[in-house]
Amino acid sequence: MSLQAFLPFTRPSIDEATIAEVGAVLRSGWITTGPRCKALEAALSQRFGGRPVRLASSATALMEMALRLAGVGTGDEVITTPLSWVATANVVIAVGATPVFVDVDPATRNIDLNLLEAAITPRTKALLPVDLAGLPVDRDRLYDIAQRHGLRVVEDAAQAMGARWGGREIGSFGDLVSFSFHANKNITSAEGGCLVMNTEAEATLLEKLRLQGVTRLADGEMDVDVLGGKSNLTDLAAAVGLGQLPLLDSFNIRRADLARRYFEGFDRSLGFTLPPADFEHSNWHMFQPLLPAGVKRGAFIAAMKAENIGVGVHYPAMHLFTLYRARGHHEGQYPHAEDIGSRTVTLPLFPAMADDDVDRVCTAVQRVMHAGLAR
Ligand SMILES: Cc1ncc(COP(=O)(O)O)c(C=O)c1O
Repeated sequence: MSLQAFLPFTRPSIDEATIAEVGAVLRSGWITTGPRCKALEAALSQRFGGRPVRLASSATALMEMALRLAGVGTGDEVITTPLSWVATANVVIAVGATPVFVDVDPATRNIDLNLLEAAITPRTKALLPVDLAGLPVDRDRLYDIAQRHGLRVVEDAAQAMGARWGGREIGSFGDLVSFSFHANKNITSAEGGCLVMNTEAEATLLEKLRLQGVTRLADGEMDVDVLGGKSNLTDLAAAVGLGQLPLLDSFNIRRADLARRYFEGFDRSLGFTLPPADFEHSNWHMFQPLLPAGVKRGAFIAAMKAENIGVGVHYPAMHLFTLYRARGHHEGQYPHAEDIGSRTVTLPLFPAMADDDVDRVCTAVQRVMHAGLAR
């Protein structure tokens, strides 16, 4: 049997009109932050019910700045999940605060809201929930807890563009909401992201934080009154984002269709734990079964690669990384996150995939498992 073309676990869908727009930006003589960024911010703001939105070069930079907007700094604690991309907790350390992890609920793989309140201390300043794989944390319960304890919320909605809670789109309500437009997200600007805020004052401060703290004055002079960094987005990236945003809904519908097909076609007798089958809230950013106990993840990925199929890992529990162990974390602290983090695999799921591609993945998984290639 001849091998079919390599099927990656994700691939962006960039149309020709967007590619032409990038060319137009390159020819325009203005390639960094400019009119395309402004237009993308306006389009995003419209999508999020008129809330202020600003772009930056990554969601990592935006979350760090969001924590600063929320007044989080040295000595503060921020409660988050250990089962996320390490950016989520890194930004807490970056502002001088301490990430306090709460284990995940194995049913959702998101922070366990039943355990969250017990982790709140007098030093807790903010909650930093993550919508893993685009499945939202329960916003009703989350904001109920935040309000009762007077806490700010920085939503790490990096993976959650187009996901919904209570009939409303994530980002159109809530406190500070951060999205990523990294290449593998549901819409992309290659790198980049946006932060949804509450007030124009926050947006003005965000503009300063992302560009050296500079304020441009009406008379053409400038001033610097806060310490800012350098994380503005380019118009090249914004042109990609502008081409992607109108496609978000159709992309997400296609993702959900493909996820449904996985549920139909995946051989349950193999012993994998399938992801939560949520077709109400999730944007199906990823399709992540958990390997059966005893299967070696590296061997599984290698065997799938031999089938010409890409498999990703998103993510190992981050408190077990060397940096976090050095801060006192250890095995056994967050058993559900550790278990899921050690068994999770990301199978191909992206809008340009054909239905047949899902069938091909399901068949390859069967073959790999039956052949004992992953033990
Ligand atoms: C859950 C989560 N948080 C944060 C980030 C950081 O986003 P960015 O790569 O845009 O900095 C990502 C991106 O991979 C993510 O998946």
